[in-house]
Amino acid sequence: MAKQVWKPGNMLYPVPAVMVTTGDGNGIDDIITIAWTGTINSDPPMVSISVRKSRYSHELLTKNGEFVINLVTKDLCYAMDYCGVKSGRDVDKFAEMKMTKGKAQTVSVPVIEESPVNIESVSYTHLRAHETDSYLVCRLLLEKKNNQKKKKKSS
Ligand SMILES: Cc1cc2nc3c(=O)[nH]c(=O)nc-3n(C[C@H](O)[C@H](O)[C@H](O)COP(=O)(O)O)c2cc1C
Repeated sequence: MAKQVWKPGNMLYPVPAVMVTTGDGNGIDDIITIAWTGTINSDPPMVSISVRKSRYSHELLTKNGEFVINLVTKDLCYAMDYCGVKSGRDVDKFAEMKMTKGKAQTVSVPVIEESPVNIESVSYTHLRAHETDSYLVCRLLLEKKNNQKKKKKSS
C-alpha cells in the first residue's frame, strides 16, 4: 500500500494512560488522567507529564510542584476514564471513585493506594508549548531518596 502524507500531528501511539495525583499540600487533592507522559532521563531519573493550563490539576501543580504518577491496572480503568472527564473543580474524584488516599514517602500529595506503582515526583523545570501550555519535567523523588540511602551505607 502506498504511503500517505498527513498534516503534522502526534502519532506516537499507543500511549500509556496514568492517573496523576496533585494537591495543595493542605488537604485539597485531585486526580487527573494523563496520556501524554514519557521518559526524559535515567540518571537522574526524570519523566515528563503534559498538562493543559485549563485543568484544575495545572493550578495545583503550579502552586505546589509535587505530584504522583499512579500506574493503572484493569480494575482501575473505569476510575481512570472518570478522572479524565470530570474536573476536581466540580467533584472529589477520590470520594466518587472510592479510591484510597495513601501517604506518600517524600511528597505532600497522596498516592492512590489501589494503584500498584506510585512514582513520587517534583517539578524540576517546565517548557511552555503552544497548545499544551505546560510540559513538566520531573525528577523522581523516591529514587533520589533511595540513592541517598545507598550512598550513606557505602560511606
Ligand atoms: C485517556 C485520557 C487521557 C488524557 N490525557 C491528558 C493529557 O495528557 N493532558 C491533559 O492536560 N489532559 C488529558 N486528559 C484530559 C484530563 O484528564 C481531563 O480534562 C480532566 O477532567 C482534568 O481534570 P482536572 O480539571 O481535575 O485537572 C486526558 C483524558 C483522558 C480520558
